[in-house]
Formats: sequence, structure tokens, C-alpha cells
Amino acid sequence: MTTLSALFPGVSRLLPLAALVATLHAAEPMTSIRSGEVWADTEGKPVNAHGGGMLFHEGTYYWYGEIKQGKTYLPEVNKSWGGTRVDVTGVSCYSSTDLLKWKNEGNVLPAAKDDPASDLHPGKVLERPKVIYNAKTKKFVMWFHADSLDYAAASCGVAVSDTPGGPFKYLGSFRPNQGVWPVNVTEADKKDPKAPLVRDFERGQMARDLTVFVDDDGKGYLFAASEDNATMHISELTDDYLKTTGKYVRVFPGRLMEAPAVFKRAGKYYLIASGCTAWAPNAARSAVADSIWGPWKELGNPCQGDKADITFQSQGTYVLPVGGKQEKFIFMADRWNKDDLPDSRYVWLPVSFEGEKPVLRWMGGWSPR
Ligand code: GAL
Repeated sequence: MTTLSALFPGVSRLLPLAALVATLHAAEPMTSIRSGEVWADTEGKPVNAHGGGMLFHEGTYYWYGEIKQGKTYLPEVNKSWGGTRVDVTGVSCYSSTDLLKWKNEGNVLPAAKDDPASDLHPGKVLERPKVIYNAKTKKFVMWFHADSLDYAAASCGVAVSDTPGGPFKYLGSFRPNQGVWPVNVTEADKKDPKAPLVRDFERGQMARDLTVFVDDDGKGYLFAASEDNATMHISELTDDYLKTTGKYVRVFPGRLMEAPAVFKRAGKYYLIASGCTAWAPNAARSAVADSIWGPWKELGNPCQGDKADITFQSQGTYVLPVGGKQEKFIFMADRWNKDDLPDSRYVWLPVSFEGEKPVLRWMGGWSPR
């Protein structure tokens, strides 16, 4: 039998070396948070959990995110916004007790490869999965942005599991708040049939970049970029967290806020979001409110220092209350690499405060505890 090394004697020496270098690079154990570097899981493989969110449950952190694989940037698919990708490999889950050693719990919501009609088919879009725990039903509920490849479906997908490590059962997708007006609608808002709010009244309101948040009283809320991304909608969730109740409010009208991350500190609600520039980073925004229903007051860009205008070359995805307490917070973000989305890196920074204003500064290597 002719072996590869017989045909190309140099290759047999080079290949194992290259493989070893790659493994060594990825296998470096995480001893501190080093934003922008490759983060290896406990098997030495790069963590693949993009646009993610975190659940702290019974002393363990569960990090859920988009699994990006293969050729993910397809400029030919939609030239109008510079290309999108064939996606939906599934949702990853990694667990950790120290926020540094991440064990891969597997693909907890795998793609439906053989069903082109499914939202989970690789030809669709699944982004920004977030998982919350419902203390009443004892279920783990996942919400994500479910979309068609052209981003026209703009829906929420919901899945449910009995355990944080899945598997999650997919329940389907829908547009929230069908046939109901937001609590703060004005008569003028209702008049223009071309306005997205009015246009989508019967079908349900758009939901693209989204997150879910559970308040101290157990009530759940959905924050979603709606109205063609122009205006954010905050919707109340049903007691089982599986749907929206129909009570919702329009916030930041016309401000094109994406990537919402919500947290609560000292009785106030905070939002850190991005602007709307696809995979390219932009300046983050922050806002505060005494009630989740608003009014929300914008506090400007929380980032300070070099590259503050592009969120240190990242886009937020979640703010983690460390240990489930409302004391220390970590801003989690994605440094998207649109030409190689699987190699998008993570940027995590501690949130500090100047008065009521959240502040993010670059930190090269730091301990999350
Ligand atoms: C971003 C959004 C990402 C993804 C991307 C696609 O604005 O935050 O989740 O949808 O656009 O271009």
C-alpha cells in the first residue's frame, strides 16, 4: 500500500507537528479571562458558543450559544447587507463552576438536517439563544432569534428541557404580540399603515436580536429588536415563560438597538445594547430604568478608553450577575469574524459603575471571581 509519507516524505513530518501546534494552542488551560484569545474547553477544543447567554443554576454556570461551523459567510446570499450564512448547527452548552474551566455538555438543540420546513434546518437562522429557569414548572426554557435566511421571518423560537444540559425539545416559533397594541401606543402611532408596528399588527411584531430576563419576583420578560430593528419591544412572558402575554411596551423608538443585555442592580434595571451594523462592531449604548416598563433613560456608551467607539471590537450578548447575585457583573460580548464565524472570539469585561452609569474598560487578563 502506498502511504502518504511514501509519496510526500516531508508531509509526514510536518503534519503531526502542525496538528500538535494547533492542539497545544487550543489546549492551553484558561487560568484567567483573556478576551480575544482562543478559549479552550476542558477537552482542549475552542469553545463554540456565540451570541450566547448564561444561566447560573445550583452553583453551576451554563453557557449556551450558537454553534458556528463550516462556511458561514455567503455574500452571494444577500448582497444588500453584505452576506449572511448557512447556519443552524445547533445550540451548545458548556458548564463551569469557576467561569474558566468549561466542560462541553454537547449540542442541546441540534439542527433538523432532513427537514427543510423546520426552523432548525441548516438553511435557516438561529441566533442569540438564552436560557432561563422557571421555578414554578421546574423547566429550563430557551428563547432564541429564529429566522429565515433573508431575516424576513423575524421570529422567536422557544425550546424546553427538564435539565440544564438538555436535550431541549423545540416547541416552535412565533411573532409576539399578535393583534395587540403596546401599552404606550399613541393614536398617531396607529395611523400610518406603512409603519412596521401597524403593518405587523395582525401577523405579530418582529423579533430579531433578543434576550430574556427574569425579575426578582419570578416574572419573565422578552427584549427584542422589533419594527425592522428600529424600536425595541419589551414583552411580559406568561408564567411558564413559553409565550408572551400580550402586554408590551415600545422603547428607544427609532434608535436601532441590537444585542440587548439586561441586568438589575440596586433595584434599577439596566440595558447594554449595540447599534445596528451587522457583524461590524459599533459603539455600545446603555440605559437605566426604575421600572422594566420604563421610562428608560439612555446613559450613553458604557465603554471607556482605546476602541471604546467599537466596544473593544465586539458586540454584547449578555450581562452575567456573578454567582447569581446582583453585585458583580460580567459583560459578555462576541468579537465576530464575519469571514470565519466559528473563529469569532469572546470579549468578557467586568462592569463597574460611575454613579448609576455602567462602565466597561478593557482588561487584558483578569480573574472572574
Ligand atoms: C448583527 C446581530 C447578529 C447577527 C448579525 C447578522 O447585527 O447582532 O446576531 O444577526 O447581525 O448580520
